[in-house]
Amino acid sequence: MPEQEQTQRVIPGAKPFPENIVMSGIRPTGFLHLGNYFGAIRNYIRMQENFTCYFMVADLHSLTTHPDTSALKSGVMRVLAENIACGLDPEKAAFYCQSHVPETSELYLYLNMLAYKGELEKTVTFKDKVRQHPENVNAGLLTYPVLQAADIILHRASYVPVGKDQEQHLEMARNYVNRFNHRYGDVFPEPQAFNFNEELVKVPSLDGTGKMSKSENNMATLYLADDDDLIRKKLMKAKTDNGPTTEFAEKPDYIENIFQLMKLVSSEDVLKKFDEDYNSCRIRYGDMKKQLAEDMIRFISPIRQKAADILADETYLKNVMMTGAEKARESASKTMELVRTAMGLKYF
Ligand code: TRP
Repeated sequence: MPEQEQTQRVIPGAKPFPENIVMSGIRPTGFLHLGNYFGAIRNYIRMQENFTCYFMVADLHSLTTHPDTSALKSGVMRVLAENIACGLDPEKAAFYCQSHVPETSELYLYLNMLAYKGELEKTVTFKDKVRQHPENVNAGLLTYPVLQAADIILHRASYVPVGKDQEQHLEMARNYVNRFNHRYGDVFPEPQAFNFNEELVKVPSLDGTGKMSKSENNMATLYLADDDDLIRKKLMKAKTDNGPTTEFAEKPDYIENIFQLMKLVSSEDVLKKFDEDYNSCRIRYGDMKKQLAEDMIRFISPIRQKAADILADETYLKNVMMTGAEKARESASKTMELVRTAMGLKYF
């Protein structure tokens, strides 16, 4: 059959594309930190009010780096519990585990035929992984962005709340969408990054270098599971100096960072007071860090306690996963009907 004839095909039921669908994935690796909260989770919580949301724990993606799979379950449970403790509501959003929705893997297979080896090899995250683990350059790692595209378009989502580090993966997802639509007929809207038009909040790390991450330096990152004493200890260790010697001096990065953290969890009055103290060269960093520690504890400790309660209730978490998978599969099976029809994979 000439190629032209295929491209004009109208897929019954595919148009208009659904609107207001949000999808995002969370890797189940380790503990969530303050950067995760202000960078991502806070957006999820806002979105669940006004959009149809699918939030997924990316357990299949995590297999690409060959983790110790005996720790998978605890990682998945923790990520579920911590997100719920932060306010993600499994009744409003579909909150599910990637491996519970096998349609993901089917779509991944089809998309692999639209993904080219050359472009996959050029992906920044792939090249990083190759550099870090030259002994484990597997095909799953190479096609990581294809699986991510499958996650997103499985729900025909248009909005993906992710940070800058995921831009390239989203760009690739748009490429696969366009190739699919062109080859088989319009089934998918183009997904785009979405963050309420706001600057993404960068939460600085406590050692004055970069942002908080699941880095080697655990003392520079505040985790939502840190206890009160540890929060105090970490904040008191944050880098400062003897204070400014001229009025209205520019703040060095590491001092700006402390103000930045204060902006996230302290009241405006408190922030204003220390800002004025700084500008008039009267600032006492010891006091500032003590205040910040107490405000931070007031923010983190209820989340930590709630997460611990949820984590202890395995029946509840199992229910969350089952309900989430049910909602996700309902949406996925509709999409896959369209996909199979478009691709000519229906013989009767
Ligand atoms: N790759 C993402 C990360 O590293 C996680 C992810 C998997 C994801 N599937 C997704 C993000 C789908 C958004 C949409 O954080």
